[in-house]
Amino acid sequence: MRTETEETPKNKKGLFIAFEGIDGSGQTTQSKLLKDYLTKKGYGVVLTKEPTNDTIGRTIRSALRHEWHPNPTALQLLFTADRSQHLTNVIEPALKSGKTIVCDRYLLSTIAFGSIAADMDYLKSINAKFRRPDITFILNVPPEACMKRIRMSRPSTELFEEEEKLKKIREAYFSLKDYLPNTYVIDGDRAIQEVHEEIRKIVEKHLMEK
Ligand SMILES: Nc1ncnc2c1ncn2[C@@H]1O[C@H](COP(=O)(O)OP(=O)(O)OP(=O)(O)O)[C@@H](O)[C@H]1O
Ligand SMILES: [Mg+2]
Repeated sequence: MRTETEETPKNKKGLFIAFEGIDGSGQTTQSKLLKDYLTKKGYGVVLTKEPTNDTIGRTIRSALRHEWHPNPTALQLLFTADRSQHLTNVIEPALKSGKTIVCDRYLLSTIAFGSIAADMDYLKSINAKFRRPDITFILNVPPEACMKRIRMSRPSTELFEEEEKLKKIREAYFSLKDYLPNTYVIDGDRAIQEVHEEIRKIVEKHLMEK
């Protein structure tokens, strides 16, 4: 009979892993694959996302659907407020209980997306006190490739999903590659499994070191 110790990985402390990138770069795809992989290995994993499905997150989604029009700074203040709630209600409790968090978009999204229309230093300052992820993956995919993926997968596009904007946001992400610790820029313009393999290896290295 297997004991609990044999089934549970020795490493009890969870990692906080964030996925970032421009729209269509594969964050949702890769978050799910990583969650499934770590779950199969016996880790307790919570897959979560921003904007959340909570009250503030829903208000943000309605703005992204053009149902109302906050100014660019107000929109990023909402993303930041949503993040504060997300940390309190989901991320911190899960990490406290030893679970790993896989977060589909986190604070670099506010700074990268927001900076095309609002002040980057201000956006950094309002996010300065939030917990930093243990690992941040920036999925790097050319905007043209993202646009193709988006057109194939979704009938209507949201606010940020226009190629010129995506180019600027991609540049902003590049400028942020050293802003948080343990940030990896991953070539996401490859087969889904190939991208997943590279991510898996990096996560495993961190799990061994923890
Ligand atoms: N490496 C890849 N190669 C080809 N297609 C991919 C790859 N990764 C994801 N896709 C496809 O591209 C589309 C967008 O992927 P996904 O939803 O994961 O992107 P995203 O980064 O989460 O986008 P958003 O930021 O808009 O939520 C999906 O149809 C997905 O199956
Ligand atoms: Mg997504």
